[in-house]
Amino acid sequence: MPRKTALDLLKMKADSKKIVMVTAYDYTMARLVDAAGVDMVLVGDSLGMVIQGRQDTLSVTLDDMAYHGRCVDRGLQQAHLTVDMPFMSYQVSPEQALENAGRLVKEGNAQSVKLEGGERTAPAIEKIVEAGVPVVGHIGLTPQSVHALGGFKVQGRGEAGAEQLMRDALAVQSAGAFCVVLEAVPAHLAAEVTAALQVPTIGIGAGVDCDGQVLVCNDLLGFDSSFKPRFVKRFAQLEAPMIEAVKAYADEVRGGIFPDPEHSFGKRRGPTRIAKLY
Ligand code: KIV
Repeated sequence: MPRKTALDLLKMKADSKKIVMVTAYDYTMARLVDAAGVDMVLVGDSLGMVIQGRQDTLSVTLDDMAYHGRCVDRGLQQAHLTVDMPFMSYQVSPEQALENAGRLVKEGNAQSVKLEGGERTAPAIEKIVEAGVPVVGHIGLTPQSVHALGGFKVQGRGEAGAEQLMRDALAVQSAGAFCVVLEAVPAHLAAEVTAALQVPTIGIGAGVDCDGQVLVCNDLLGFDSSFKPRFVKRFAQLEAPMIEAVKAYADEVRGGIFPDPEHSFGKRRGPTRIAKLY
C-alpha cells in the first residue's frame, strides 16, 4: 500500500473523513501504529520529554529529529510521516528554515515538516512550501514558547486571544500549510477555526470538532501513570503489565527457572568433555 501524501490528507477534509495522527519515535512503535491504520505519524519534538526524559522540548536538536525520523520511516507502510522542526531550527530566518526542512527530508525521510507559530512563522512556512516541502502548522499552545507563554496553558481565551488564534490559523493556511495542529484551545474556538479553514485542523486538547486528532503514543497507551493532563485519554494502561512482565522475568532468572529446556539449545547432559578437562 502506498504511503499517504499531503494531498490525500487534504482531501480527507473535503470528504468529511476524520484524520488520525499519533506520535512515534522508533521503528517498533511506528510498525505498531501503522498496522493500526493511523493516517499520519508525527515524530514530535515531544521526544525530548518522553524519550530523553527532559522537562520540555527546547534542547532537542535537528540531528535528534533526523535520527528518529529515519527510525520511524522504516516502520511505516501506509501512514504519512511528519517530522517536527525543533526549537531554533526555523526561527532565525526563512532561509535557515528552508535549509533545515531540507535536512529533515534528506536525513530524516520526512514527507512533511511541522513548525510551531502562526503569523510570525508564516514567512518560514511560505519559503519551505515554495521549495516543494509540505508543511503542517501548529498554533495555540506552542510548547517551544513555553517560557514566553508562562507555562503549558490553554490558549485563545478571551476575545483578543480568540482573534489572535483565528489570525494565526489564516496566516498559516495562506502561507501554504496543508494542515494545522490546534493545541490546547477551547473546543468552541477550535470548531470556529475548523469551519473557517479549507485545510484540515488536527486537535490535541481542542475538542471533537477538529478535522482530526493527535495524541502522544506513550500517553494513549498509558506508559506513565503519573502524567495525566486533562486532554489525554488512556486507551490502554500498559505501565503496570509491562512492569509485571519484567518482574516475572527477573524472578525466573533469580530462581534458576529461565531459560528452561524449551528456550535452550540441545539436551541437558552431564559435564561436557571440555569441562571434564578442568
Ligand atoms: O511534539 C509533539 O508531540 C507535538 C504533538 C503533541 C502535536 O507537537
